Amino acid sequence: MAISNSFTGKLLRRGSADGVRLMSSWFRNVDQAPKDPILGVTEAFLADQSPNKVNVGVGAYRDDNGKPVVLECVREAEKRIAGSQFMEYLPMGGSIKLVEESLKLAYGENSDFIKDKRIAAVQALSGTGACRLFAAFQQRFHPGTQIYIPVPTWSNHHNIWKDAGVPLKTFRYYYPESRGLDFSGLMEDIKNAPNGSFFLLHACAHNPTGVDPTEEQWREISSLIKAKGHFPFFDMAYQGFASGSPERDAKAISIFLEDGHLIGLAQSYAKNMGLYGQRVGCLSVLCEDEKQAVAVKSQLQLISRPMYSNPPLHGALIASTVLGDPELKKLWLEEVKGMADRIIGMRATLRENLEKRGSPLPWQHITDQIGMFCYSGMTPEQVDRLTNEFHIYMTRNGRISMAGINSGNVGYIADAIHQVTKSA
Ligand SMILES: Cc1ncc(COP(=O)(O)O)c(C=O)c1O
Repeated sequence: MAISNSFTGKLLRRGSADGVRLMSSWFRNVDQAPKDPILGVTEAFLADQSPNKVNVGVGAYRDDNGKPVVLECVREAEKRIAGSQFMEYLPMGGSIKLVEESLKLAYGENSDFIKDKRIAAVQALSGTGACRLFAAFQQRFHPGTQIYIPVPTWSNHHNIWKDAGVPLKTFRYYYPESRGLDFSGLMEDIKNAPNGSFFLLHACAHNPTGVDPTEEQWREISSLIKAKGHFPFFDMAYQGFASGSPERDAKAISIFLEDGHLIGLAQSYAKNMGLYGQRVGCLSVLCEDEKQAVAVKSQLQLISRPMYSNPPLHGALIASTVLGDPELKKLWLEEVKGMADRIIGMRATLRENLEKRGSPLPWQHITDQIGMFCYSGMTPEQVDRLTNEFHIYMTRNGRISMAGINSGNVGYIADAIHQVTKSA
């Protein structure tokens, strides 16, 4: 090949003797990254050949036949938008219609904050992207200030704020003995955090525990956060999916708004509209006035522009079509309630099945907890036994995705759980 006569060819032949390195060598020492604790479960599940295998690891909704679901409202929205839309870029801040609908859903249809244009908001790459964008914004404009995240929390929260260069601290949240909220620990940690800290709160259906504060507890949390001058950032990945009512699931937010907080908020349509892979979400920051909101929005766009330029179009069109059409929105509300109700029903059936088998352990927390996950209280060793002996896959923290349980497998799962926990 002509290369041997070329300047490049000569350089290559002289090679490392002259200190010239092939470009492949700079990543020679890169180690394999650790597996993601959640996505790694799916990999192991897929590799298992057993006909009995069950995946209750990943938080994706399945129907009572164990099948993924495309909501009817989404199918109808897709029909309506098919071919009718151009495929140009969205603006940097994403679909204006999607953002408007998202704000109405979270802050209330008749919110004064919306009317007064006090909310800076952009379409985001689902809930993860909204959190990541906020973390970058926090790092840029309030550098060095830590964010407190609950123990435990969705494992990606750690990565998101760490990668954005924000120092992380934790606050107590879950009390293993009661399998419920460590309310006094949580309040103490909020009180002891330096004034003006950031606090990450799950708006509803806390992941992984399924344990949410009561309304009264939210009021106390809100007062204390206000007294301390902390900044609350809400991650709302499950609005509507927890109780079946988007309004009820946004109660914590409305309490904070009533109390006069400025807030940050991540919204996702992955679970409540089943748009997982479409990556549709919204990041909003409630500001003091319109001028500030305009400035904050412009800075959020400035951060997103070099990251991904502008967000994707298709999912935004689906979600905004559903939310913007009264008929489709009504259908969505019914369907999201249907998903929530199936999960609530499965909680009762799983508990009943465990109790029926004479399990000596208390299982009330299965029905007390809410949302997609049940924090079962099983140890990592018990989870290992479930996987190795019964082909049931979940994260080693004992988190069960209730969405993966159905009438066909609930008996098998209860049996297996009983077998691995009965001598505990
Ligand atoms: C608490 C929480 N936040 C955010 C997300 C982000 O999901 P997505 O990026 O798919 O919207 C999830 C998903 O599991 C979650 O549980």
